Amino acid sequence: MIELVNVYKRFGTLQVLNGVSLTFKTGENTVILGKSGSGKSVLLKHVVRLLDPDDGSVLVDGKNIGDFKLHQLMEYRKTLGFLFQGAALYDSLSVFENVAFPIRRHTKTPDKEVEDQVMEALGWVSLTNAAQKMPSELSGGMRKRVGLARSLILKPKVMLYDEPTTGLDPITSNEISDLILNLQKQFGTTGLIVTHDMPCAFKVADRAILLSEGNILFDGGITELENSNEPLVKTFYETSVAKRPELSL
Ligand SMILES: Nc1ncnc2c1ncn2[C@@H]1O[C@H](COP(=O)(O)OP(=O)(O)O)[C@@H](O)[C@H]1O
Ligand SMILES: [Mg+2]
Repeated sequence: MIELVNVYKRFGTLQVLNGVSLTFKTGENTVILGKSGSGKSVLLKHVVRLLDPDDGSVLVDGKNIGDFKLHQLMEYRKTLGFLFQGAALYDSLSVFENVAFPIRRHTKTPDKEVEDQVMEALGWVSLTNAAQKMPSELSGGMRKRVGLARSLILKPKVMLYDEPTTGLDPITSNEISDLILNLQKQFGTTGLIVTHDMPCAFKVADRAILLSEGNILFDGGITELENSNEPLVKTFYETSVAKRPELSL
């Protein structure tokens, strides 16, 4: 279980997180919504400890990750998978080698087993046929799926997705959303999903959080969010849907 306790973070004079407290429940998909610049990526980076809070703490199974020694931090990070915005593949490596990269770096797995694990991970994203291709030969959606296979190869307990469907067409976005949902169902993976894509949010969310002005403006079901009468929540929802007119059919 991952818990943010009264987390404050600012950059210069810009207060980005203003006392955020939040528990991510094991096995649940939490969608994190909010305008551009509202601190969604900053929040995810605290979970990975790429950023430290100015005040407050991030607890994992009750332990403050800010107190972790380097080896504890490394062990903890192995339980996480992340698909970050703009996460690039290694252009000079084949799809197979891209996906194999985390196993080769973090473990001493024999080649035959590496191959089995890579092919299994490529199977999850329906790309076994693309193993020998180079990233430059792939479409944007395929590259995203390779990135996903690479972040899944070590079978993380928690997956962090930062705008996983941004820049993809609606059909490919829907495939990525299906994958996020399948991983949760098949492996019980906890998902933290930052997205602007409301169809994706509707598909994958057990719970939705809306960040605004450094605080949590809404925390609840996505249908509740859709029906909220709170003016700021309403405005956010309506502008998000307006950007995707096919939703309001
Ligand atoms: N490392 C950093 N240094 C300075 N400012 C940052 C840094 N990271 C994020 N910010 C600022 O914090 C705010 C929130 O950023 P971010 O979490 O990336 O927003 P978003 O909700 O769009 O993901 C933005 O104004 C951004 O410019
Ligand atoms: Mg962001």
